[in-house]
Amino acid sequence: MKFLSFLTFLFIFSFELVKAKNHECVAASLQEALPKRWNATVLSANHVEQNGTYGQGSIDIAYPINPTGLKELCAVLVNVNSSSTSHYTFGLFLPTEWNGRFLATGNGAFAGGINWLDMGAGVGYGFAVMSTDTGHNSTGIDGSWALNAPEVLNDWGYRAMHGSTVLSKKLVNHFYGQPSHHNYYSGCSTGGRQGLRAVQLYPDDYDGVVAGSPAWWTSHLQTWTVKLGAYNLPTNSSHYIPPAQFSLIASEVIRQCDTVDGVQDNIISDPPSCHFNARKLMCKESTINKTECLTKPQIETLGKIYDSYTVDGNYVFPGLAHGSELQWPVLLSGIGNAPNPLGVDYVRYFLDHPDFEYTQFNYSFVEEADRKQPGNATAYQYDMNSFKHRGGKLLMTHGWSDALISTGSSIYFYNKVVEAMNSKVDDWYRFFLIPGMQHCSGTPNGTEAPWYIAAPNQASVLSNSTHGVPGFRNPKHDILLAVVDWVEKGRVPHEIVATYYINDTVANGVGKQRPLCPYPHKAVYDQRGDVNQAKSWKCSAR
Ligand SMILES: *[C@@H]1O[C@H](CO)[C@@H](O)[C@H](O)[C@H]1NC(C)=O
Ligand SMILES: *[C@@H]1O[C@H](CO)[C@@H](O)[C@H](O)[C@H]1NC(C)=O
Ligand SMILES: *[C@@H]1O[C@H](CO)[C@@H](O)[C@H](O)[C@H]1NC(C)=O
Ligand SMILES: *[C@@H]1O[C@H](CO)[C@@H](O)[C@H](O)[C@H]1NC(C)=O
Ligand SMILES: *[C@@H]1O[C@H](CO)[C@@H](O)[C@H](O)[C@H]1NC(C)=O
Ligand SMILES: *[C@@H]1O[C@H](CO)[C@@H](O)[C@H](O)[C@H]1NC(C)=O
Ligand SMILES: *[C@@H]1O[C@H](CO)[C@@H](O)[C@H](O)[C@H]1NC(C)=O
Ligand SMILES: *[C@@H]1O[C@H](CO)[C@@H](O)[C@H](O)[C@H]1NC(C)=O
Ligand SMILES: *[C@@H]1O[C@H](CO)[C@@H](O)[C@H](O)[C@H]1NC(C)=O
Ligand SMILES: *[C@@H]1O[C@H](CO)[C@@H](O)[C@H](O)[C@H]1NC(C)=O
Ligand SMILES: *[C@@H]1O[C@H](CO)[C@@H](O)[C@H](O)[C@H]1NC(C)=O
Repeated sequence: MKFLSFLTFLFIFSFELVKAKNHECVAASLQEALPKRWNATVLSANHVEQNGTYGQGSIDIAYPINPTGLKELCAVLVNVNSSSTSHYTFGLFLPTEWNGRFLATGNGAFAGGINWLDMGAGVGYGFAVMSTDTGHNSTGIDGSWALNAPEVLNDWGYRAMHGSTVLSKKLVNHFYGQPSHHNYYSGCSTGGRQGLRAVQLYPDDYDGVVAGSPAWWTSHLQTWTVKLGAYNLPTNSSHYIPPAQFSLIASEVIRQCDTVDGVQDNIISDPPSCHFNARKLMCKESTINKTECLTKPQIETLGKIYDSYTVDGNYVFPGLAHGSELQWPVLLSGIGNAPNPLGVDYVRYFLDHPDFEYTQFNYSFVEEADRKQPGNATAYQYDMNSFKHRGGKLLMTHGWSDALISTGSSIYFYNKVVEAMNSKVDDWYRFFLIPGMQHCSGTPNGTEAPWYIAAPNQASVLSNSTHGVPGFRNPKHDILLAVVDWVEKGRVPHEIVATYYINDTVANGVGKQRPLCPYPHKAVYDQRGDVNQAKSWKCSAR
């Protein structure tokens, strides 16, 4: 028995890393792998030495930073003409020492550029890794490319990710002389949406998907962003809360909500179980300095920010969670006296109202977005049986301190899937809420919540050469390894231990670790051990 498993170990191990056979990092050779009907051209193929760097630098205005410390690899750039009025490009890293798998990575917001940093994080494990520019060239907060451009929107919505995946697999097969034995996806925000949309539209593309903080409900999320920004405008009104006062609110939220979970640690484990009383912030007549409290109209604004947006019983979008305040400046600072472009640009350019001003906003724009579904981007096909039945596995995450995409929208999505499939989903789909994590990564100043699980977009926060969870390179701590383990070995991720490195710096050492539990389970403290150690916490029985 022992001997057999030793043999099995040897067998698996010997297949763990495949050395490139064909290994021809030459554009003309790689071009042969691409069928003519795809209108695809290999623009370049460059050999990168061990510990090298690669990317497009500043001409990739969405992702101008190149990853460093790369393994030896072949970096390929491909253009695909997807229609007579649209084209997209994708980058592909083919490592010399390959783990036999393919990984696609995602984008953020409206970013039109190849996400080289996430590719760098993926190639560190030995994956062949792809990222696409999704068919346009822009920063994350610029949506002007979408005006009267339905084909470009289709590329952004789903087509570029699918095409880039299909063609990358062909290039992988050609380069190594064998196909990838498993295929994965990892993306956050828009990347989370792209992953869910792929599961829905192209269930065969990936065996395992990590969808972080997904911007899945495009038609509602983007329009709600206008509504939300408008709550705190104009900046000269009496109901305006200046960003300088957000930290005052954050402190009061921590004061009232932190210990609801029985542990005083600045981390709110479950914001909905805190019944926050905003009136405690109300200015008293005796208060002279009105920036240390909120006036009645400001308290009303605060209530709207936390409340769900509903119209005549129609649920549009959940409000922001208590504990998200320190990230509010991104959407609520009223820069230029307007809401964030992620909302306004969507109405202007995706819905084709170029002269739109936020003051004109009303519910009819939500209805219009639902009707038009620009780029068919919204991941609203809740029945994902095709993916489930082919053995696909989906891990979804969302931080509770996210102020860009309300955490509640992922809970809503999860419940919709359970409802649509009329069954339990935990044999193929698990959802991990991350207390104290902001949008995709990071934790509010002073909170120090364990958030790092090598989820999409996370590694580059630590450094431009990080991959995985330094010090903890295993499926218990690393969500990408967890999905691989689930797909290939059937090991169910019952929990994932998140890590906080002091000041988000690996060299400072680990400050805290704590398990994340699959929804609706929660991490519960054992009331005895060191609160900063994962072993002092267990996932709740229900
Ligand atoms: C893609 O479009 C460009 C610009 O229109 C054109 O020059 C190129 O030949 C096209 N490539 C293919 C493979 O269709
Ligand atoms: C890798 O390259 C960096 C510079 O980019 C250099 O500082 C470092 O010493 C190199 N590491 C090794 C192991 O060669
Ligand atoms: C994207 O557009 C900018 C101008 O806004 C340009 O400088 C850059 O070269 C373009 N990038 C690519 C990859 O075409
Ligand atoms: C190739 O280009 C043609 C003409 O522009 C277009 O109709 C077709 O959809 C493209 N094929 C793919 C796979 O993108
Ligand atoms: C706010 O500023 C606008 C012009 O930007 C002005 O029309 C309006 O009267 C001001 N409102 C208040 C309350 O000062
Ligand atoms: C009011 O309080 C704020 C925040 O504590 C402080 O920065 C500001 O200087 C105070 N203003 C006055 C007039 O005391
Ligand atoms: C919403 O606003 C648009 C543009 O300002 C206007 O044409 C429309 O009548 C409004 N709809 C409702 C229901 O108020
Ligand atoms: C959008 O995608 C859905 C599947 O999620 C499909 O049923 C629908 O036909 C698509 N709509 C368009 C306009 O392509
Ligand atoms: C973080 O909080 C500390 C005190 O809680 C404060 O001194 C510091 O300025 C804050 N840092 C940032 C970047 O806000
Ligand atoms: C990544 O590289 C850029 C440019 O060299 C640098 O500004 C940035 O600080 C680096 N990021 C991290 C997390 O070290
Ligand atoms: C963490 O960062 C803060 C502010 O940037 C600094 O004051 C503190 O010394 C840092 N701690 C460590 C352990 O590096």
